[in-house]
Amino acid sequence: MKITTMSLAVTFAMTSLAASADEAALRQKAIDAGLEPVPYGLQQVEDNPVTREKIALGKMLFFDPRLSASGVISCNTCHNVGTGGDDNLPTSVGHGWQTGPRNSPTVFNAVFNVAQFWDGRAEDLKAQAKGPVQAGVEMANEPEQVVRTLNSMPEYVERFGLAFPGEEDAVTFDNMAKAIEAFEVTLVTPNAPFDQWLEGNDGAMSDEQKAGLELFIDKGCAACHSGVNIGGQDYYPFGLIKRPGADILPPEDKGRFQVTETASDEYVFRAAPLRNIALTAPYFHSGQIWDLEQAVAVMGTAQLGTQLSDDEAATIAAFLEALTGEQPTIEYPTLPLETDATPKPRL
Ligand code: HEM
Ligand code: HEM
Repeated sequence: MKITTMSLAVTFAMTSLAASADEAALRQKAIDAGLEPVPYGLQQVEDNPVTREKIALGKMLFFDPRLSASGVISCNTCHNVGTGGDDNLPTSVGHGWQTGPRNSPTVFNAVFNVAQFWDGRAEDLKAQAKGPVQAGVEMANEPEQVVRTLNSMPEYVERFGLAFPGEEDAVTFDNMAKAIEAFEVTLVTPNAPFDQWLEGNDGAMSDEQKAGLELFIDKGCAACHSGVNIGGQDYYPFGLIKRPGADILPPEDKGRFQVTETASDEYVFRAAPLRNIALTAPYFHSGQIWDLEQAVAVMGTAQLGTQLSDDEAATIAAFLEALTGEQPTIEYPTLPLETDATPKPRL
């Protein structure tokens, strides 16, 4: 009896030793594949020191619908910080109820992307932030009108002064974008189960998720989706092996070709960042696929020329769910008071 108990204990110890060796090997494999955890601490960005005053101002601007012509639409309308940093619509609804051509990506962890937008046409977050304010189908405003609006509210004038000390005329369209960038830098989601596991906590992911991670690497997903954001680092043809149907890849949106005007960039898009992907359906730039397993299967055929089985797609999707990080807790800011000089909404 004693011997049996002992041999059981030895078998158990050997099994868990083998399990932890497997665990270490898989962890090393993930690291070798270039998968990285979301780093702790505040990121710094180029040409825009991130200060407390800038973050506070940027947060107000992000939530302020008066940056839009109608006075109704803020950045948060399409990048709702309570729903994963996006709007969960196929393509966004903006000024005058118009729908735009593309799905809204999450603003969470956007600071880790090599460039912004599905086609990477903005080199960083401050360049990006000037786009939607002026886009006819989004906020439909003009820079001069935005500056007039901000200057009409004494609290904004004071806060721009604090955020950009030493600048004679701190209320500018460029500084608006810089402040928004500073706030967006804080919108990171660390500590996802995958990150905890990568940092050594064996129990942070389920066995299915670990199997999904292994498939994600072995099937070749990690070749395009790697780095901190598990994507967002480089550009590839959507339909590298087999072009998806026109519903998923509408022929009129030629992706990066519109940026570079190079024939080989037709239908090239940035490999989408996969952090928090379970929160940001529907999928792809066209936003036509609502189911994550189906999106995984589309990637199998379109990018890898592989027909993934339902089980494989489900297992990979389970791993992708382990990429949901701690969502930022954001207190809705009280916004500066309007004055008689504040331009009236144009609906
Ligand atoms: C893309 C921020 C307003 C819809 C993005 C991205 C960021 C961002 C950082 C790029 C994310 C990535 O590439 O992964 C902002 C800020 C806004 C704002 C700071 C306010 C100034 C809006 C509004 C709408 C909207 C109001 C909807 C009406 C979109 C869409 C894209 C996008 C559709 C993808 C466009 C493309 O790739 O061509 N936004 N956004 N955004 N945003 Fe916004
Ligand atoms: C988009 C997963 C393989 C390049 C996506 C999306 C998912 C995904 C879920 C949608 C993201 C979103 O809508 O926000 C996977 C999985 C793969 C895989 C599980 C392996 C089975 C690849 C490979 C490449 C690639 C090998 C490069 C050759 C892209 C690109 C997009 C994308 C360019 C953006 C497509 C668009 O414009 O809508 N991936 N992917 N993926 N992936 Fe993959």
